[in-house]
Amino acid sequence: MSSEPARRSRGAVLQDVLPESLGFGTIFAPLVVTAWYRRGRWEDPVLCELGPVASSIGAKALQYGQSVFEGMKAYRDLGERSPESGSFLFRPHDHARRFARSARRLGMPELPPEVFVSTVVDLVAALDEYVPGRRGQSLYLRPTMVGTTEDLTVRPATEFCYTVLATPSDALFTEPINVWVERGYSRAGAGGTGNVKAAGNYAASFAVSERLLERGFHQPLWLDAATRGTVEEFTAMNVFVRRGEQLLTPPLSDTILAGVTRDSVMRLVEDAGDLQVREEAIPIDGLLAAIERGEDIEVFGTGTAAVVAPVALVGDESGLRLHLRGHETAARLREQLLDVQHGVATTHDEWLLSV
Ligand code: COI
Repeated sequence: MSSEPARRSRGAVLQDVLPESLGFGTIFAPLVVTAWYRRGRWEDPVLCELGPVASSIGAKALQYGQSVFEGMKAYRDLGERSPESGSFLFRPHDHARRFARSARRLGMPELPPEVFVSTVVDLVAALDEYVPGRRGQSLYLRPTMVGTTEDLTVRPATEFCYTVLATPSDALFTEPINVWVERGYSRAGAGGTGNVKAAGNYAASFAVSERLLERGFHQPLWLDAATRGTVEEFTAMNVFVRRGEQLLTPPLSDTILAGVTRDSVMRLVEDAGDLQVREEAIPIDGLLAAIERGEDIEVFGTGTAAVVAPVALVGDESGLRLHLRGHETAARLREQLLDVQHGVATTHDEWLLSV
């Protein structure tokens, strides 16, 4: 990086005075890291103060949605394994690779994964005091790339801005959630951008999610666009269903995001060996009928921001309201994952990068 990050001493005090409840994504740390892509190459990243990004309404990101992002986290080391280690980044190389895939899909230049990882490491080191100290909280990081070229030609930008924003946060949901089976709109179509983190995927869900919030629901449960017969994703999470001894999740496809948390949860379950993980289509009617019959079923979402979020209620436009009472698998997986993320467990050290 061209400007030397202002490293602060370990054990700095801010993390101790952050409010107990942080919410998600509303408190921004004062530093960001930024790199520009100009004249066909990436310039050196710089650490700088958070401020408005000079941009024109004519920028490709604003006009045509040429914008991708990642969500990743730095967790405070609660295992006290090393006096050197203030916090851990969780699976940063996987996020770097997915960021490159997202960029490619939207006609943007790939940021080399090693640059992605080093910018995030430098930012977290500079913001050490903003990594919260409470279990389940984290410094949530939002690497973002936007096309900044100003013209309305329907072609990709030639200049791009990469920025990593950081926000000390709670998990996205701190209580079991209510979900809504959405049968009108779709999240993703075959060959579209559903399997990458294009900003527009999220904007396209806003009209639906706002309508649901008013009715007390937290997330739409999106169905496949072709048949509206099978479960795909929540807006911010992959979907899991535990039915008896089986843990089901839809197989990855061009309409499903390859969640890093999804993969981590599957690995933890395989390690434990008590449930059989199956990546297979989940017909929505069969799922609802089984819940209604009172079968032994749990539904939960997984995602970086959410970690593991159990579902308490499934509803839909017809007035259906099905309560799910057991959350033991989701609760166990959430705790197991947090143990790894905070460095308390040593089972998956390969997922952690010490900062
Ligand atoms: C994440 O889990 O990091 C996401 O990007 C999902 C959401 C908060 C938009």
